[in-house]
Amino acid sequence: MNYRHHFHAGNFADVIKHALLLRLVAAMQRKPKGFLYLDTHAGRGSYDLSLADQGDTLVRKPEWPQGIGRLWSESDLPELLADYVSAVRTYDQRQGNLTTEPRFYPGSPLLAGEVMRPQDRMVLCERHPDEAAALQIAVGRLDRCSVQVMDGYVALRAMLPALERRALVLIDPPFEAEHEFADIVRAVQEGLARSPDAVIAIWYPMTKRARVDAFADQLCRLKLPPTAVAELMVAGEESTLKMQGCGMVLINPPWRFETEAEPAMKVLGQLLAQESGASGRYWWLVPER
Ligand SMILES: C[S@@+](CC[C@H](N)C(=O)[O-])C[C@H]1O[C@@H](n2cnc3c(N)ncnc32)[C@H](O)[C@@H]1O
Repeated sequence: MNYRHHFHAGNFADVIKHALLLRLVAAMQRKPKGFLYLDTHAGRGSYDLSLADQGDTLVRKPEWPQGIGRLWSESDLPELLADYVSAVRTYDQRQGNLTTEPRFYPGSPLLAGEVMRPQDRMVLCERHPDEAAALQIAVGRLDRCSVQVMDGYVALRAMLPALERRALVLIDPPFEAEHEFADIVRAVQEGLARSPDAVIAIWYPMTKRARVDAFADQLCRLKLPPTAVAELMVAGEESTLKMQGCGMVLINPPWRFETEAEPAMKVLGQLLAQESGASGRYWWLVPER
């Protein structure tokens, strides 16, 4: 297990993932009843982007300038994206950044944690002990929040159905292992069996279209409830970039989520393009009935 999100924080993949996550949380909060936010692969919670070029042995090219860096000074963003940038800015400033560039970047646990209400609850799973220890410090002051040093896939079985009977789950693995897609499908099957109404957001990398298509087919075989996909390509599929894009599968997306997500994805496709062939799309994998 070598993955450290540290090197990737604030990149284009974080932008789509975190912008949509914040909107999903807001949609869950349209109802007064509390909900469980389960982050199966939580990371360390907070990232110092000024260290993003320091690898374990080699100097790395920071990824955030091609991600949050592209949105940082944009004044004419759709509300979904403007709210995300504003949340990152608020965190960055509170952590003490006095420069004009972004420096302190909140991971999924802190982005969600900042807007949790007293009736909402968070369970954050992180299997790597060092990352989990850092996460515990990062979320220390948040109420109704627990950090679990455990396999996030097991957590789906263990934590659902939520006591609150409402759940938002983020599945955001490192995709280092060949079996990651299969692990996700199994975990989603178990999660939906326990909690058919859970909103489940799954991040995936776009490295090979065929692999992503096979993943979508396997998910569809589970007889999914309504499910949408938001996908961002920063380059065409023929590009030599290691990751040409990424997406989020959204199981049980909130009502009319597409009205905001679709235009936001289009704008991201333009703003985060790295090569020709970039695009941002939103479509139904399993339409609403
Ligand atoms: C992509 S990062 C998570 C980033 C985080 N969700 C965010 O958006 O800020 C993936 C994390 O999953 C952790 N991890 C890997 N396998 C895991 C597993 N089976 N269960 C829980 N955590 C795992 C890694 O240590 C890494 O910190």
